[in-house]
Amino acid sequence: MRIGILTGGGDCPGLNAVIRAVVRKATAAGDEVVGFRDGWRGVLDDDTVALDLAAVRGLLPRGGTVLGTSRTNPYAVEGGAGRMVATLERHRIDALVPVGGEDTLGVAAKLAGEGIRVVGVPKTIDNDLDGTDYTFGFDTAVGVAMEAIDRLHTTGDSHHRTLVVEVMGRHAGWIALHAGMAGGATVVLVPERPFDVDAVVAHCLHRFESGYSPIVVVSEGARPADGDLVTSTGQTDAFGHVRLGGIGVALAAVLEERTGRESRAVVLGHVQRGGTPSAFDRVLATRFGLAAVDALAAGLSGVMVALRGTDVVPVPIAEATARLKLVPLERYAEVEVFFG
Ligand code: F6P
Repeated sequence: MRIGILTGGGDCPGLNAVIRAVVRKATAAGDEVVGFRDGWRGVLDDDTVALDLAAVRGLLPRGGTVLGTSRTNPYAVEGGAGRMVATLERHRIDALVPVGGEDTLGVAAKLAGEGIRVVGVPKTIDNDLDGTDYTFGFDTAVGVAMEAIDRLHTTGDSHHRTLVVEVMGRHAGWIALHAGMAGGATVVLVPERPFDVDAVVAHCLHRFESGYSPIVVVSEGARPADGDLVTSTGQTDAFGHVRLGGIGVALAAVLEERTGRESRAVVLGHVQRGGTPSAFDRVLATRFGLAAVDALAAGLSGVMVALRGTDVVPVPIAEATARLKLVPLERYAEVEVFFG
């Protein structure tokens, strides 16, 4: 087999571990692997890189993706589907392994529908892909955010200030939920649950009364139930997503005014996506890569490898990309016990 591999959408720790696992497993079986640069752009523009054993040496702990990535949507490009099929034929690609989130795998599902053999690998630090219990990258991002919260507790308490920590999470609040719970946040705000500003103010005041300073963890996509607190640049990507940012700063200003205490915002941003993957993410990414090659060898297509419990299993891509996996209310209720 000649297997094509690409990484699309936002990068995340563990992408290189998938590439390494696919190449190691495929090479051992006598298969060849071709990398496409910058996600679907590489397939559209015929931009490839040969991936042999030497090319993947040392990749396991390395963050980012050596293939590069982009948010290119080939179906938004005139003649995009035909250009992709032509590239795949030119390189005699028998099957594709796209590694990505909802958008990249949405394209994969369409390609599979057009008869291209595809086995997807789910990735996103947001952990919002349905069909898999976890995506790799999430554990690393939560670890980074938790460490930041730990550090912010000590400086916040010293200055008697509120610190608002903005974490990533466009539609789903998984990073805020887990990092907030792990870091002992005073309040956690997620996109799934529009928040009441009065309640956030009350929790912060209660925290000050008990002799400590509040830490408010807010997902970039969180919104107040009433009114509007900003927060997008107005720019959109090729899949129509707006670029977010600003809720942390806006909320800190409101809290300063309403509590009468100084408030500062810390925006963690891409720090959560960079750097070496955690042990959990290295193992999950490696198992996903191995399972993708196994699925191809078993003749499967139109599937995505997924973690279910402790097993890695194939699930239909179309099912996994039909809806996002959001934080359920009962999970939010667990962290609410610790507010204030
Ligand atoms: O989907 C992953 C993610 O990190 C989101 O949490 C965030 O909104 C988005 O990507 C940021 O994308 P970019 O790096 O393109 O600004």
